Amino acid sequence: MQIYTLTNIHGIEARIMTYGATLVSLRTPDRAGHFNNVILGFDTLDSYLAGVPYFGATVGRYANRIANGRFTLDGKSYQLPQNNGPNSLHGGNQGFDKRVWTAEPIPTPTGPSLRLSYVSAAGEEGYPGELTAHVTYRLNDDDSLAIDFEATSTAPTPVNLANHAYFNLTGDSRNAILDHLLKINADRFTPVNATLIPSGEMREVAHTPFDFRTPQTIGSRINDRDEQLRFGGGYDHNWVLNRSASQPLTLAAVLSDPKSGRSIEIRTTQPGLQFYSGNFLDGKPAGAGTVFEYRTGLCLETQHFPDSPNQPTFPSTVLRAGQIYAEKTVLIFRTDK
Ligand code: GLA
Repeated sequence: MQIYTLTNIHGIEARIMTYGATLVSLRTPDRAGHFNNVILGFDTLDSYLAGVPYFGATVGRYANRIANGRFTLDGKSYQLPQNNGPNSLHGGNQGFDKRVWTAEPIPTPTGPSLRLSYVSAAGEEGYPGELTAHVTYRLNDDDSLAIDFEATSTAPTPVNLANHAYFNLTGDSRNAILDHLLKINADRFTPVNATLIPSGEMREVAHTPFDFRTPQTIGSRINDRDEQLRFGGGYDHNWVLNRSASQPLTLAAVLSDPKSGRSIEIRTTQPGLQFYSGNFLDGKPAGAGTVFEYRTGLCLETQHFPDSPNQPTFPSTVLRAGQIYAEKTVLIFRTDK
């Protein structure tokens, strides 16, 4: 296992390890110029091996849930591991987050980058086709981190790759994220059932706690009496991003922390955004004894919609032999000074 450090000309630093193609830490300045780590993570591999909820990892072959771990493709049925209640979550028992990727540092004119590769055998975790996946992190001197996902397959397969970083822009993972302000560029979201599988409906966010079209604090409505919030134990839902045809990199979200003055703008080619408010962080020791309390990190996972292989009205996640899967997400770091 190796860890690589990317640093840009302003001192922003991203550390990435080959286990899980994981973003281990991300150090950005606050408004006073002090650098802190703004994502949850550990200093030792052992902590990750002890079992963590996908901290900073690249999740695949299919990020998010597939109902009952089952889907049909070209008339053939497939059964995946059911590792989350009745459903398959984040690629099964040994998803891409638990694989060792190969890494190649590549300097570019706009900043240092690291390209990671992993070949997933046909049949691995129940998925058809040998899938060759690449994730490239590039830390640009304009204070942005671009994450490129690419894949090809020898046979038709569903693919959904996403980064699973937990942000805490206060720079101190002991603080809850409930005072962070969040804007999500989406008029609709996909409501779910009690096991977090979408019904297929794309519901207007207007007049619901899911309306983040203008910046709202995460905590302001999280305890509202609302069936969807109850199912998620808070926010754990997919938003349907408002896409503009002329802009392949569409605005997905802006997260900011009024205390530190930090903000992150997220742009993406992906159709969806899973906003998860850290509801399963429970204060039990994780990794080498580090404790992560309830809602001390939040994920903004740009991706395709959950359970797309079983949802004919959702954008397709099928990759066929000869096609190239390519998605991009960019995090732009700013301070309010
Ligand atoms: C995703 C899911 C959540 C949870 C986390 C990991 O964000 O949507 O329900 O499983 O991963 O704990």
